[in-house]
Amino acid sequence: MVQVTVIGSVSMDLVVTADKRPLAGETILGHSFETVPGGKGANQAVAASRLGAKAVMIGRVGDDVYGGAILENLRKNGVSTQYVEPVTDCASGTAHITLAEGDNSIIFVKGANDFVTPAYVEKAKEAIRTADIVLIQHEIPPETVEYAATICEKYDVPLVLNPAPARQIPKEVTEKAAFLTPNEHECKVLFEGMSRTDALKRYPNKLIITEGENGARYFDGSEEKVVPSFPAETVDTTGAGDTFNAAFAVAVAEGKEIGEALRFANRAASLSVTKFGAQGGMPTREEVEGQ
Ligand code: RIB
Repeated sequence: MVQVTVIGSVSMDLVVTADKRPLAGETILGHSFETVPGGKGANQAVAASRLGAKAVMIGRVGDDVYGGAILENLRKNGVSTQYVEPVTDCASGTAHITLAEGDNSIIFVKGANDFVTPAYVEKAKEAIRTADIVLIQHEIPPETVEYAATICEKYDVPLVLNPAPARQIPKEVTEKAAFLTPNEHECKVLFEGMSRTDALKRYPNKLIITEGENGARYFDGSEEKVVPSFPAETVDTTGAGDTFNAAFAVAVAEGKEIGEALRFANRAASLSVTKFGAQGGMPTREEVEGQ
């Protein structure tokens, strides 16, 4: 069993469904409201665990009611929470999600996720040293991402950097990561002023651009390749990117070559969108392999 260590956010998702998004100053009627576990880091840890990896989470919760529920959900999904400590007098991270017109829009409030500091990661470095692969995202402070990249390099553990939400990163971090997995928008922010083709060519077999239902694109050293996605009956796309990243990391850690790992990731992501909630549709290993 491979070990996937995830450094990132753990949050509660507050999800409203409606026919449309309200305009500024407008009040509209919604259809439903639900509270479900989320956070890009936690989602990736849960997805990796369901796919058969030993998943270890490095993150922080608040000392509020959500904190306990988030921890319980991670444990229920087989994720190690040894390195998920509560922050005193602090709210847990929350994501305020509107599902309307076939897509989501999200306001993320960091809360305790802001306390995933370099010093905190330093305390948890044993979980990085023992990992086969590490996953990290952008819902924690930028200096922590930089620090984690340094530790991964020191221990020679491959790092998958999922640069979501979009923000620029120092070149040293880009160089230290084994894989970068932006979507099209994040890619434009990351490689400002550069064409997609030039960015891909600069990072062969390392930069993977996710393009939703069109699949995933990378440059293999001689040509640009697109690994197509699988058709799905979409209910909720929240968490599809997290499922993709986790499945890709698990497959790479298991020794699959990049094309095969991307096919596995696309299959997992296509199943994840068929149910409500970021983690609701995340598939098990058997479900992905049976597809
Ligand atoms: O990637 C999806 C996640 O990002 C949601 O679960 C939500 O927490 C958001 O921040």
